[in-house]
Amino acid sequence: MSYNLLKGKKGIIFGALDEKSIAWKTAIRCHEEGAGIVLSNAPVALRMGEINKLSEQINAPVIGADVVNMEDLNNLFIKSMEHFGGKIDFVLHSIGMGLNVRKGKHYTEMNYEWNHKTLDISAMSLHRVLRTAWDLDAINDWGSVLALTYIAAQRVFPDYNEMADAKALLESITRSFGYHYGDKKKVRVNTISQSPTKTTAGSGVKGFDGFVNYAEKMSPLGNATAEDCANFCVVMFSDMTRMVTMQNLFHDGGFSFTGVTQGVIEMMEK
Ligand SMILES: NC(=O)c1ccc[n+]([C@@H]2O[C@H](COP(=O)([O-])OP(=O)(O)OC[C@H]3O[C@@H](n4cnc5c(N)ncnc54)[C@H](O)[C@@H]3O)[C@@H](O)[C@H]2O)c1
Repeated sequence: MSYNLLKGKKGIIFGALDEKSIAWKTAIRCHEEGAGIVLSNAPVALRMGEINKLSEQINAPVIGADVVNMEDLNNLFIKSMEHFGGKIDFVLHSIGMGLNVRKGKHYTEMNYEWNHKTLDISAMSLHRVLRTAWDLDAINDWGSVLALTYIAAQRVFPDYNEMADAKALLESITRSFGYHYGDKKKVRVNTISQSPTKTTAGSGVKGFDGFVNYAEKMSPLGNATAEDCANFCVVMFSDMTRMVTMQNLFHDGGFSFTGVTQGVIEMMEK
């Protein structure tokens, strides 16, 4: 169902890799709500070709950008403004990459070069995106920028490894840049802290299925799906949330504030 919440708005969506991606579902929902979209992903992801299906489905051009390359980002924002014939209203940063996680290095044995890249791709990239938009004055007043995060930024989930530190940095940049962008240009910046979700990035975490099942049992509403997350993104891009900024918003069925559930107690009593 569409409520026309984003009628006439224009946005850049980073990170749609395949149909499972949170960014993919969000792009579809934003399109259904009336927004014009530019899709972006790293050149290596574009070579997979999946994104072309989405591009056709929602009539959105694809402009490649490695999110750690400032020239790529500059080109993306300039081309997007040319495409739309003006400034944009929203950005979704749906990007994550843990090199130590991917290569199976334990947190205590971290390779620091890989870690440097992890922090750059997964966290500093939000600063890079905001800085590019800021320098080009590319976002309309009351625009909305969202990045996706995970509760391992606040509490320990051992197998989430270096990504926990990356998410803590991402959330800090959200507050720090959010202050300046709000103060100078009335642009808001927030993170959504999503339930574990079966996607390519999610499934890269060791013991992921255990993670998902545990979170499901520990959440009064159950885990939030990628589709639920897409709906939340729509609301956060809309004018209904104009005064929300610099926040980390838990979107996890209540997991973050639950100490224990009846289901878990019953499991422990067995
Ligand atoms: N899946 C989960 O359980 C979960 C939970 C909470 C938060 N998140 C976050 O949601 C976001 C989206 O992840 P997803 O689960 O949809 O997985 P996904 O694998 O579909 O998306 C990750 C995206 O990051 C992109 N990316 C990686 N390196 C890049 C680079 N250098 N430049 C540009 N793009 C790059 C990938 O190409 C991919 O499209 C990530 O920030 C992730 O950490 C995921």
